[in-house]
Amino acid sequence: MSEIPLFALPEEHEAIREACAAVCRDKVAPHAAEADRLSEFPQASYDALRAADFHAPHVPEAYDGAGADALATAIVIEEVARVCASSSLIPAVNKLGSMPLILAGTEELKQQYLVPLARGEAMFSYCLSEPEAGSDAASMKTRAVRSGDSWVLNGVKRWITNAGVSEFYTVFAVTDPEAGARGISAFVVEKSDAGVSFGAPEKKLGIKGSPTCEVYLDNVTIPASRLIGNEGEGFKLALRTLDHTRVTIAAQALGIAQGALDHAVAYVRERKQFGQAVADFQGIQFMVADMGMKLEAARQLTYAAAARSERGDSDLTFFGAAAKCFASDVAMEVTTDAVQLLGGYGYVNDYPLERMMRDAKITQIYEGTNQIQRMVMGRKLLQG
Ligand code: CAA
Repeated sequence: MSEIPLFALPEEHEAIREACAAVCRDKVAPHAAEADRLSEFPQASYDALRAADFHAPHVPEAYDGAGADALATAIVIEEVARVCASSSLIPAVNKLGSMPLILAGTEELKQQYLVPLARGEAMFSYCLSEPEAGSDAASMKTRAVRSGDSWVLNGVKRWITNAGVSEFYTVFAVTDPEAGARGISAFVVEKSDAGVSFGAPEKKLGIKGSPTCEVYLDNVTIPASRLIGNEGEGFKLALRTLDHTRVTIAAQALGIAQGALDHAVAYVRERKQFGQAVADFQGIQFMVADMGMKLEAARQLTYAAAARSERGDSDLTFFGAAAKCFASDVAMEVTTDAVQLLGGYGYVNDYPLERMMRDAKITQIYEGTNQIQRMVMGRKLLQG
């Protein structure tokens, strides 16, 4: 019988995983606990990822990027998250912030903004949510008004990952208040533009090494050429972007869960109680088995979604939502069980398990809550 290659990753993807895992083990993992404890952006991890071209691997080669496909990008994010969830938001949010440009930007705009991103001179964030517009993203209030050859932006964006650290921001704003979701457009805003400022970093449960802030836009005047795609098509562009990047959150969730399972397995093999390794108890074996089984199911779904993202398949909307929803729920279950397997040691920060459990929670919330993912999946399945 001939070999069926369907469920084996191509060799080059396995090679990327190995290379990335080595960088993460040696140069990212050592900073993970401190980034969490101090709530500080892990600059050393960024530098290590940048040196190895893993900071924004998705940028096409035409713009000086590594040209990683969606699956390779997911693998990079997974491996970084396995040791440090905060650091995994470097490649993940660089993709989120720049995806609208990749999907719909002019050649000139791509050259201007993707090249510095690829070279590691700038990071990119994504500004969709607002204090009163979260799940209902189309109800945003931020305004962009055309004035001659410029656009003038005013408003407040909230929950912006890597805000303040990023140089570039894709900002969604209302250009036609009468047109609802069809009256929203996308723009590139720079941190150095006059009128851009940031709120204090949010005090979060997890991913503490990745700053989350409000972004204030106060009469920010930008050239008309910084419109991404067509006027009025920004909301669709926001959702098309999320179709692709929900796969990256699934990959992040996978990595966090894998990291927790790695530690839990090592611990239960070493830990002795009642005269034997706790791994020898069937109750422990069953827990580990369930964790590994769920994780592998999440991995298969995530990679299947990544393949669809790369091909631009029409069922990506369903698969992106399904992968993100499933993998993040698995990450929460697996990290919670990993804490349980370590008992008291899981609950203190001498071990990384409690951090991983805290970090896992956000994957059920951002880039659309898992309730929104179910809404997206339901709509796709039920539409005529
Ligand atoms: N791709 C392209 N177009 C799409 C689309 C998709 N996946 N889904 C819908 N559309 C189109 C629709 O066809 C419709 O087009 P027409 O006007 O031509 O009919 C238009 O977009 C509006 O669609 P809906 O009527 O379905 O829009 P809605 O207002 O009901 O909202 C929603 C849909 C799915 C709930 C959407 O608002 C959503 O995904 N909400 C969650 C927002 C979210 O994920 N936020 C996360 C922010 S990023 C983040 O977390 C920050 C970070 O830094 C990590």
